[in-house]
Amino acid sequence: AQRPIIIEGPMPIEAEKFAKRLENVKEEKSGSFVFYKGTVDNYPVIVAKTGKGMENTAAATALAIEKYNPVAIINQGTSGGHDPNLNVFDIVLGQRTTNIGSFKAGDKGANQGIDPTIWKPMDLMASEGSAGEDPNAEKPRYYEGDKSLLAAANAVKDMYKKGKVVEGTIGSGDFWNNEVDRIKWLHDKFGTSVEEMEGASAAQIANSYGVPFLGIRVLSNNKTNGGKYDPSTAEGCQEYVYEVVKKYITTL
Ligand code: 5AD
Repeated sequence: AQRPIIIEGPMPIEAEKFAKRLENVKEEKSGSFVFYKGTVDNYPVIVAKTGKGMENTAAATALAIEKYNPVAIINQGTSGGHDPNLNVFDIVLGQRTTNIGSFKAGDKGANQGIDPTIWKPMDLMASEGSAGEDPNAEKPRYYEGDKSLLAAANAVKDMYKKGKVVEGTIGSGDFWNNEVDRIKWLHDKFGTSVEEMEGASAAQIANSYGVPFLGIRVLSNNKTNGGKYDPSTAEGCQEYVYEVVKKYITTL
């Protein structure tokens, strides 16, 4: 049988529009996760409504891989801009995706205060030893976007009319950063184009199973340039990802 493509979306507004475009849909539930199993151009495609955040996404991704043996996974949805050159409705293709919520704090005793600016990234996949003691863990881990998925996404980027489509770095953590100086610090330290709460956890699990992965994120807000939150960006993203999927199917 053909191995399905899995399209993940965290919130109802980020998954249900794509699910409506599927043909021959059957809904399956597992825990809090909803899988819409259907077809696009007669090829099996499953939309996974994962819920928000790293934990829901990791669990839903592992479950989807074990249940459905996917040929590829796309994690998509909204995001907040870290790059002032990107505007609300622009789309970032995750040339890389990284965890921006995992840190080792500086060494300070009682009454020496708290200082996030000296925190170091902490790579939980660096070794099987203590992350707190391992100097090799003091750097970000970047998951590369799959080349074939990126090629398909680039091939259809002119079909997206609501903004530009660029390659960049997607940063993820269970955190809504709302301090412009912290956003700038993350942008400088990790090279992030946007932040959201899911991509890196899906990338990590997909990588551990060897499943090709790409993050695709529309900016729904950008505090660095005054871009106000617009939830309708989620629909635009799904329309674009639908075109990416149709293109990718032709390459399989
Ligand atoms: N920071 C963090 N997450 C964001 N999201 C959209 N904008 C941001 C932002 N600025 C996404 C997350 C999560 C939900 C809150 O929307 O991925 O699913």
